[in-house]
Amino acid sequence: MATKLSQDELKQQAAWKAVEYVQSGMVIGLGTGSTAAFAVDRIGQLLKENTLRDIVAVPTSIRTYEQAKGLGIPLATLDEQPELDVAIDGADEVDPALNVVKGRGGALLREKMVELASKKFVCIVDESKLVSGLGGSKDAMPVEIVQFCWKYNLERLQKLPELAGASAKLRMAGDKPYVTDNSNYIVDLYFQEPIKDAYAAAKAISACTGVVDHGLFLDMVDVCIIAGADGVRLQD
Ligand code: 5RP
Repeated sequence: MATKLSQDELKQQAAWKAVEYVQSGMVIGLGTGSTAAFAVDRIGQLLKENTLRDIVAVPTSIRTYEQAKGLGIPLATLDEQPELDVAIDGADEVDPALNVVKGRGGALLREKMVELASKKFVCIVDESKLVSGLGGSKDAMPVEIVQFCWKYNLERLQKLPELAGASAKLRMAGDKPYVTDNSNYIVDLYFQEPIKDAYAAAKAISACTGVVDHGLFLDMVDVCIIAGADGVRLQD
């Protein structure tokens, strides 16, 4: 009888499959989060074995930078490498059209910058991340905002008609606001139901001055690798 894989084993399967997209000589984007961390480890391992050579990687967070540096992966920034061949990253929610929510790990801005700069964005998830509509998991959809007058911005977000009564909370780290790698705050939005029009919501959020970026990654994923009980499948 087949043994049931743990969620970590599923994440690792998706991550290892994604690393098959990486070839020697490429410039790659390294995502953030527990699923992406498996891909970073795998790339480090293949470099060490000399199966992969001459890779340059752009990390999407300080956390990933430290992990990759520890593994001896050559690193660069978007200033030095503005065009990437492939980026590999996890997601919090994936809808049937491969639009995703990202940023529960707090790295959404750098993730979006790196993934938009990549020719191919390979998203890696276990099947618990699949939703019928974004916002549908009832968990956070993050928005990165400047620290200045954060309460004012939080209240404005909450009132946007495109968000249909979403509730908004400032993300905390203990008794202090959570601060991103870019020295900003995060407002987490919670929806009662999936967002009706994610494009309209993204546009309305972005139009609020003081918003740096949001966790709706629309029309960005090229391939999604989904690991589940029946194995690993690809959707593009
Ligand atoms: C971090 C992210 C992560 O990719 C997302 O939160 C998924 O994380 P995990 O793989 O740990 O479930 O967007 O900002």
